[in-house]
Amino acid sequence: MKILILGNGAREFSIGRAIKNEAKEHELFYMPGNGATHQLGTNINIKDFNELALWAKKNGIELTIVGPEAPLVEGVVDVFKSHSLTIFGPSKAAARLEGSKVYMKNFLAKYNIPTARYIETDSIEEAFKFTNSLSTPIVVKADGLCGGKGVIIAQTHDEAKVAVSEMLSGKSFGDAGKKVIVEEFLDGYELSMFAVCDGDDFILLPAAQDHKRLMDNDQGPNTGGMGAYAPTPLVDDVLYEKVKERIIRPTLDGMKKENAPFEGVLFIGIMVVKGEPITLEFNVRFGDPECEILMPLMTSSVSDMFLKAATNRLAEIKVEFSKQYAVGVVMASENYPYGSSKPAEIILDDVHHEEIEKYTHVSYAGVSLQDDKLYADGGRVLVCVGLGDTIKQARDRAYMRCGQVHFAGKKLRTDIAYQAL
Ligand code: AMP
Ligand code: GLY
Repeated sequence: MKILILGNGAREFSIGRAIKNEAKEHELFYMPGNGATHQLGTNINIKDFNELALWAKKNGIELTIVGPEAPLVEGVVDVFKSHSLTIFGPSKAAARLEGSKVYMKNFLAKYNIPTARYIETDSIEEAFKFTNSLSTPIVVKADGLCGGKGVIIAQTHDEAKVAVSEMLSGKSFGDAGKKVIVEEFLDGYELSMFAVCDGDDFILLPAAQDHKRLMDNDQGPNTGGMGAYAPTPLVDDVLYEKVKERIIRPTLDGMKKENAPFEGVLFIGIMVVKGEPITLEFNVRFGDPECEILMPLMTSSVSDMFLKAATNRLAEIKVEFSKQYAVGVVMASENYPYGSSKPAEIILDDVHHEEIEKYTHVSYAGVSLQDDKLYADGGRVLVCVGLGDTIKQARDRAYMRCGQVHFAGKKLRTDIAYQAL
């Protein structure tokens, strides 16, 4: 198949890598891709969705896969569909599940899907009144997309009120904070679950755990994610069934009723409280780095899953996963997540060890290519992935691979998957 992948992260790298591994004949294009995606396909650079759709038509693209949320929220799927192209991802209307937390929370409430008690408001008085009715900590969220920074866990009532005031005045997040959610704090353990959906049916992938904080022992600031592992032993069949019946099924049914059938990846942030899954948030795309560990666990065809999902035919296929575990360790640049970093050349040791060769690989994100040399270019640079029969084995292998990747200022956590060990 000729496949176009939108995005430039390790998430998109890992999708392309899985597709190439299943059949070298697949021809991949990346828009825009990164300094390593040329290993898998051809990078193109056409930003306008209409022009990109025309390019895709002219070049016989049979399937487009969208990685990040921004083009989804901006409606790339609607544009491609208006050109009769096959594209995997939610419409602009369905992407509001991620684009607006107010929309998401009201949707959850309307369809009785478990979520934290909340109010949504643009009134400071109302927000303060609800804040007073809650015990601490208190969660305050800006409505719109804030690059993962729009959630404040306030330890005191005063702190919550400051967060509300700063959001509503536009001071902290501009227009994205013009409406806020104030909600009760849920005390439990957090999971990420991913359902590949075609509007009617879905396939639930193995549950993963992300590591959002920058430093070991969950210290330091929040990041996009510093590592992940799957499947997590914290989930049993009973919990999977609860998530399917109480969250995913009613979400797909509800979105159909809202005239926004959900096609694409439904990423469910879940807090498990006393054995019950509660929806923290939805995203409308794969998690990054969760995708990087889920792709290598798939033993059935990845491209076929995306194609069937994009053409409302998921019921026709059976998706299969290996019995192994995967652990992904992110390597980030020196100044991540605070700011940009000077480009640093990446030196990769030759891999001689059979175990490393066979059970590990690298998915690339923030890298550039100059004179055939790979440079760490800021942000999250790459993910070292290890596979194994146990989480420990997968983790040890991932870290073995980390030891073979060098660049000035490289930053990584040393405790990925600690929750499971
Ligand atoms: P969100 O973007 O809504 O997922 O929030 C980001 C992070 O804040 C989540 O991954 C949780 O760790 C935390 N969080 C959000 N809402 C709550 C809540 N109601 N109770 C506890 N933690 C929360
Ligand atoms: N790793 C979490 C995310 O992609 O939002």
